Order: sequence, then C-alpha cells, then structure tokens
Amino acid sequence: MKILICYFSGTGNTRKVVNKYVDSFVRCGCEVVTYKIEENNFTYNVDDYDYIGIGYPVHAFNAPSIILEFAKTLKEVKGKRVFIVKTSGEPLKLNNISSIKLKKILNQKGYDVTNEYHYVMPYNIIFRHTDNMAYKMWTTAQEVIPIDCKEILRNVPAELDSVFMGSFIAWLFRIEFWGGRFNGKRYKVNDNCIHCNKCVNTCPTHNITVENGEFHFGKNCIMCMRCSFFCPKSAIKIGLFEKWKVNGAYNFNNPNNYEDEVHKKYCKKSYIKYFDRCNEKIATARGEIAQNEEQEDEEVVKA
Ligand SMILES: Cc1cc2nc3c(=O)[nH]c(=O)nc-3n(C[C@H](O)[C@H](O)[C@H](O)COP(=O)(O)O)c2cc1C
Repeated sequence: MKILICYFSGTGNTRKVVNKYVDSFVRCGCEVVTYKIEENNFTYNVDDYDYIGIGYPVHAFNAPSIILEFAKTLKEVKGKRVFIVKTSGEPLKLNNISSIKLKKILNQKGYDVTNEYHYVMPYNIIFRHTDNMAYKMWTTAQEVIPIDCKEILRNVPAELDSVFMGSFIAWLFRIEFWGGRFNGKRYKVNDNCIHCNKCVNTCPTHNITVENGEFHFGKNCIMCMRCSFFCPKSAIKIGLFEKWKVNGAYNFNNPNNYEDEVHKKYCKKSYIKYFDRCNEKIATARGEIAQNEEQEDEEVVKA
C-alpha cells in the first residue's frame, strides 16, 4: 500500500506523531511519503497513493488555516481515502469538532475521510506541562499509533464522537484565524535577543523580517508559536497572549527529575479518561496479539 501524509506542525508535536505513523506503516510493509505543507510546493499526484493522511495541531478547536488552504488546493478525486491525525494539548471532547471544516472541503472534492485520530501532546501555548507529563503523553501515543495504523490498514473506519452544535462552535472559534493575524503584528522582540535569526529562518509563513537590526512581524502569522517557543532567549513577546507563552522544547525522554504539576486540577478528569481509554486500547490489542499467537501455536502443534 502507498501512503502520502501531508502535515503541518508548529512546534514539533504533530511531526513526532506523523513520524511514528511512518515508522508503523513501514513496519507493516507500506510505502510512505511525507509532505510538509509549509513547503508550499506540492507536486505529488494523489492518484498515485492508496491513502492520504493529513496531520495537524488543533488551533482553537479547528485545523489551522494553513491546513484548510492546503486542502482547498487538492485536486478533485472520486472517493480517495483519507485519514486525519491531530494533536492537541488537552483531551476535551470539544477538540473532536476541529476537523469539521476540513472534512467539508475534502468531501466536496470527492475525498472520503474514513478515520480520524486524536493524540494529546504537551501544550505549546496556555501553560507548560511538566516533562513527566510530556513523557507520559508521548509514550502513550507511541503505543497507540501502531494500533491505529493497523486499524486503517484493515479498513476499519474510526470516527470521533460528534459534539452538539459542533459546526457552529468551530465556526465561532475560527475567529482565531483573524485574531492570529491581528495579534501576530503585535509581536515584539526584547533586549534578550541575540540576533540568531532562528525565528526569521524558521517561520512557516516567512512572516518575520529584519531590517537594520529591527524585527518586523507581518500580517501572515498563523499563531503556530514556533518563533517564541524555540527562541533560545525567550525574547519574543507574543502580543495579547504573552501570559500564555510557553518557551523551550520539552524533554520527551524519560525525565528523572520529578517536577510538581502546577496545573494539577486543569481538565483533570479529561486527562484521566484519555489515558484510561488509551490503556484500554493497548490492553485489548495486546490481548488480541496473545490470542493470535496461541492460535498459531495450536495450529503448529496440530500440523
Ligand atoms: C493558537 C493555538 C491554539 C490552540 N488551541 C488548542 C485547542 O483548541 N485545544 C487544544 O487542546 N490545544 C490547543 N492548542 C495546543 C496545541 O494543539 C498542541 O500543543 C499541539 O500538540 C501543538 O502541536 P505542534 O507542536 O505540532 O504545533 C493550541 C495551540 C496554539 C498555538
């Protein structure tokens, strides 16, 4: 099977998840190609692939504008199968609505969205999860993704539960697209800046320029947070959302130092439910594997 996964990732969480998908599909004998949507030079022919994957981080209960714009450029097809993988910082059911607009665009073009999966990864805005939590999220996703890949390959459809008035709520939150542009122009760089130009060189929409040592933030910010998240001196002030800024990559490798979770109570029940659901899925898959192995052993003994 040939699979093309097109994705956007602001700060690396979705990229990690997509890479795990690639690894899992390849282990199942598939041929997989990935395309970074920000490269803006899509030359693949979707007809050459059996499945198209789309990966994105949830932004204000929606797919980011860069994803929707990309979907609009896809050619029309007849029933090409698509799966969606998305990451978000909290496991609230409201995040289920984030693909509504994307699915509408894809359906209009003749694509058939058969599966959608949601992985909780650490926040890149609002507050910083502890590295322990980031590790837990990532190890959980790594165990669940191969199971989800097999589900896709077995043609078992997977839909997220719908949410009452979901389309309307998602539409309301798409104010973030406009808000991002408005707020992005208000980004500022403070004196801690060492002029490494990492922000300029990595902005996915080339929205940051420097003239005579002065930084200029244009009108094409998509609020992905890459510039401020990876700034080595935390020198970028993110306008109205400065209090929600998260700076610095997470340590996803087993952190030894225990840090206290500052936001212990935030969405506590949803996080517990999310991990319980994942663990149940992992346990069921392990049970099925053990059962299959037992059956195979019995057949060998009989033969
Ligand atoms: C502008 C913006 C809006 C976000 N909105 C949501 C949201 O509605 N729900 C949520 O759970 N996480 C939200 N997040 C958190 C990201 O979805 C999450 O951290 C994601 O894993 C980041 O992925 P990336 O590293 O691939 O960009 C938002 C992040 C940003 C920057």
